[in-house]
Amino acid sequence: MALTQDEKKQAVAKAALAYVEPDTVIGVGTGSTANYFIDALASMKHQIEGTVASSVATADRLKSHGIPVLDIHAVDEISVYIDGADEATRHLHLIKGGGAALTREKIVAAVSKKFVCITDDSKLVDVLGAFPLPIEVIPMARSYVARELVKLGGNPFWREGVVTDNGNLILDVHNLKILDPCELETQLNQITGVVTNGLFARRPADVLLLGGENGVETLE
Ligand code: 5RP
Repeated sequence: MALTQDEKKQAVAKAALAYVEPDTVIGVGTGSTANYFIDALASMKHQIEGTVASSVATADRLKSHGIPVLDIHAVDEISVYIDGADEATRHLHLIKGGGAALTREKIVAAVSKKFVCITDDSKLVDVLGAFPLPIEVIPMARSYVARELVKLGGNPFWREGVVTDNGNLILDVHNLKILDPCELETQLNQITGVVTNGLFARRPADVLLLGGENGVETLE
């Protein structure tokens, strides 16, 4: 019988345990795949120094397993960051932010020596952009940023009712042609009022683990 998407997510989350270095601090992402990783990490909780969480929800889940959650300011180094993605390419460029945690995820990824992205194989694409690109914006700038995004050819939708852990809003941008993810990531971050966007191209993943029908494929 074919594996479900959840079974693939679970398998890839378990495979990520091989990247957990004992006696170090681990960065932990947000979302359903990251949640499976947290559940698996519980079995190793006495072997690590602690974790840094990319969202309040992740911190809560880590704590519910008795896994120590550290303040990022108290941490010199994060050995590895494990997180999911909404889309990924073979160049290890990603779209993230489906769970609205993109800014904290980008900060933890920036601090981490290695970024291991874990997804099921439905997330692998040739060109990014079918998944609407999430952008975190300062509330006051929402309409202005939306107008600037339209000028770039995008079709932004306000994710109504969602407030990020940083107190900001999310615009989901449809119809962006993401042929040069590094360039677009920089360009979008120049719009006044944008906190950051969900393109992880300037700091891509270092390893992409893809859960599929025949097990876990490693791209690096
Ligand atoms: C949250 C994210 C998630 O990694 C992304 O949305 C994937 O989620 P899931 O593992 O539930 O498919 O970027 O902001």
